[in-house]
Amino acid sequence: MNMKLYANRFLFLRFLFSCLLVALPLLSFANTGGSTASVMPEGVPDPKDLLDILILSICIFVILVLLYMMYLLNMLMNYIKPAAARKPLFAGLIQKLSDAVPIEEEHSILTDHDYDGIRELDNNLPLWWKYMFYLTIVCAGCYIYYYHFSGVGKLQIAEYQEEVATSEKEVEAYMKLAANSVDENNVKRLIDAKKIESGKTLFLQNCAACHGKGGEGGVGPNLTDEYWLHGGGVKNVFKTIKYGVPEKGMISWKTQLSPANIQEVTSYILTLKGAHPANPKAPQGDPYEEEDITIK
Ligand code: HEC
Repeated sequence: MNMKLYANRFLFLRFLFSCLLVALPLLSFANTGGSTASVMPEGVPDPKDLLDILILSICIFVILVLLYMMYLLNMLMNYIKPAAARKPLFAGLIQKLSDAVPIEEEHSILTDHDYDGIRELDNNLPLWWKYMFYLTIVCAGCYIYYYHFSGVGKLQIAEYQEEVATSEKEVEAYMKLAANSVDENNVKRLIDAKKIESGKTLFLQNCAACHGKGGEGGVGPNLTDEYWLHGGGVKNVFKTIKYGVPEKGMISWKTQLSPANIQEVTSYILTLKGAHPANPKAPQGDPYEEEDITIK
């Protein structure tokens, strides 16, 4: 086979390969976009990303098929044309892009290097390669300006901190929701000072009229002693407040206070034990053994 024909035949394949090299990074770029905002669990691709990839893949496939059809058509045309007019597909364009010296003139760029008969050409760098290299330099400049000087682009640490802040907000919202799902079966005594303070405010607003400002008792029983009519401990107290003892003058609070509020006021009442307020009401009910003495 004629060497020239052989080289030309592979020109087109080289062209296709270059297209692929350009397309692949583009594909991976499209794949990473927008995934930070996703709420999908780790490892499960976001359907939106999948759609992007699908559309891009179809586009690339269509382009490749079109190119292949042009290639076939060109082969057919070459078949009809006289030998002198035959040309490989995109010969001119590829010639321009590669900036390679045509095979007939290669002797002009042959160097005097000779390694066991293998000789070296001093071809120009392909134009597409050279300009892509220049482009990377421009991109690097833009990148440095965008991320380090403009104040618009966020570096990894800033991005990370932003994500942490968003997550913390989500956690807070979730905890609020979770706090309101407490009931007498799963309620735990709160020890957080802020929650206790909030429980105290609720107590002074709603309960002090009958139980006294210090829980010493009045219309209602003393809440600071060890005697309980309906059981002490976080679960019993929560239950008494939630459902009340309506026939004895203690209303049910579940329509006025959220479960989280009842939990707070319960936790506050439990801190009153042994407070010895002035004018304590005489003990009522039975002494109650704290079932959970580990929390102080
Ligand atoms: C209108 C008066 C009144 C108000 C207001 C009131 N209580 Fe009571 N509370 C009572 C009475 C009366 C009892 C005793 C019920 C009984 O004899 O069974 C009681 C009982 C209790 C008990 C049970 C004590 C025990 O010994 O078992 C708890 C706990 C309690 N109240 C908490 C609260 C809390 C918390 C609030 C505010 C959110 C509140 N109460 C508001 C009148 C009141």
